[in-house]
Amino acid sequence: MIRTIREVMSYLRSLACKIFGCGSARKTGNGNSQNPAGSQERKKHGEPVVAQEPTKNDDDFVFPKDFVWGTGTSSYQVEGAWNVDGKGESIWDRFSHTPGKVKNGDTGDVACDHYNRFAEDILLAKRLNLNSYRFSIAWPRLQPNGRGEFNQHGLDFYDRIVDACLQNGITPFITLYHWDLPQALEDEGGWGNREVCELFAAYAAKCVERYGDRVKHWTTFNEPWCTSFLGYENGYHAPGKKDPKLAAQVAHNLLVAHGLAAQAMRKVAKKPIKVGIVLNLSITEPFHADDPEDVKLAEAAWRRDCGAYLDPLYRGTYPADHAAKIGDLREGDLKIISQKLDFLGINFYSRGIACKSELPYPIPGSTYTAMGWEVSPWALRGLLTRIYNEYGHPTLYVTENGASFDDVIEGETVADTKRLDYIREHVRQVALTIKSGVPIQGYFAWSLMDNFEWAEGYSRRFGIVYVDFETQKRTIKDSGHWFANAAKQNRVSLK
Ligand code: FCB
Repeated sequence: MIRTIREVMSYLRSLACKIFGCGSARKTGNGNSQNPAGSQERKKHGEPVVAQEPTKNDDDFVFPKDFVWGTGTSSYQVEGAWNVDGKGESIWDRFSHTPGKVKNGDTGDVACDHYNRFAEDILLAKRLNLNSYRFSIAWPRLQPNGRGEFNQHGLDFYDRIVDACLQNGITPFITLYHWDLPQALEDEGGWGNREVCELFAAYAAKCVERYGDRVKHWTTFNEPWCTSFLGYENGYHAPGKKDPKLAAQVAHNLLVAHGLAAQAMRKVAKKPIKVGIVLNLSITEPFHADDPEDVKLAEAAWRRDCGAYLDPLYRGTYPADHAAKIGDLREGDLKIISQKLDFLGINFYSRGIACKSELPYPIPGSTYTAMGWEVSPWALRGLLTRIYNEYGHPTLYVTENGASFDDVIEGETVADTKRLDYIREHVRQVALTIKSGVPIQGYFAWSLMDNFEWAEGYSRRFGIVYVDFETQKRTIKDSGHWFANAAKQNRVSLK
């Protein structure tokens, strides 16, 4: 049995809750006791979180001075206002409105009401001492049918977000596609239809024309693997199709769309822009490090999982067995895909494990988040280092990392020690990676606030800020206080 990122993400996303029940978080691993947030005086709403005085300590790692400390959200997960001010229907609107698709029948109709509360949320990011905000544009808010006229209200909305970021000293990182395709395009075959690649490039160019005077960092796609596999192969995500052949084509088309968009964006940009893509990648470790079969399986998993994306993007080739699965692979496609990438964003949550025999689950000694994802921070360093070394020293960001645990709010406090531990351990791994000579440009915690966690609805909280979905009140969790402190000091203790 082999546990790779593919299997781990889909299997655990969909099954862990059923197997372990919700709230199954096991005791977190390191027992690390010191909690700087705990001793911190809580501030009233609107005031910045004041960092503790840096203590001079040889065990501290100081990040490079331009290190990016950010958090991420995505349009469907936070905005709400699903049918307001001319927005078109997205595949996630359709999916969540279809009974049985999302846990508890939850939808993103209101979500965090970020459409109306973005200014408050960006101020929150400022209070957390963050210098960057990663968010996505809802294509159907800008272009309701995915083609033709643009929606003035939608264009204006993202103008306001960008301006609010800049006014607060926060650099906007825009994702152009975080899974909410206009439903009208899905009705024409969605990402299986090659024409959608051209339409995406046109939409991307429009975004750069509109916001490129103020926004430098652009990501075409968030986690294309999730779109193709979870959306078109196992049906766990919108649009809910179960067609492996189509999924292979979708995976390819998304990369073609990425390349076409990169070309189109650079063509219209009046100021220099940075174009990247965000991939969910992991490193697969052999369960028995001294068993040659497990080692071989782990290596094969790496080639398959990373090769399917990093090879075409950085080398202009596909692993042969992967190429064979793509029905429509045209001459010139790999050239389009392998446009220069200014940066690569890596979303990391858990390692993969390869084992020639049945893998025990849970693994004795391992700890898990409420998603059932194993906590394995060391693997982040291994992943970043291997990508850096094997793919020509790309510019790397950790664009997502975080954990879901069942939070308890008491008054103004959410003592989310397990999430705090998780984030701190991963930030430490980033520090160690940099220390070992692999430059990492930034770390974005997922997520700024609790939000709609796709097929798990609101049952899974990933925020460093707690959201009461009844009242929309935001409360900074202890993990948020810790992160604010680390960001302010630009350092982390390695002790
Ligand atoms: C990632 C998604 C993000 C969020 C986290 C938990 O795969 O990009 O939107 O759902 O998982």
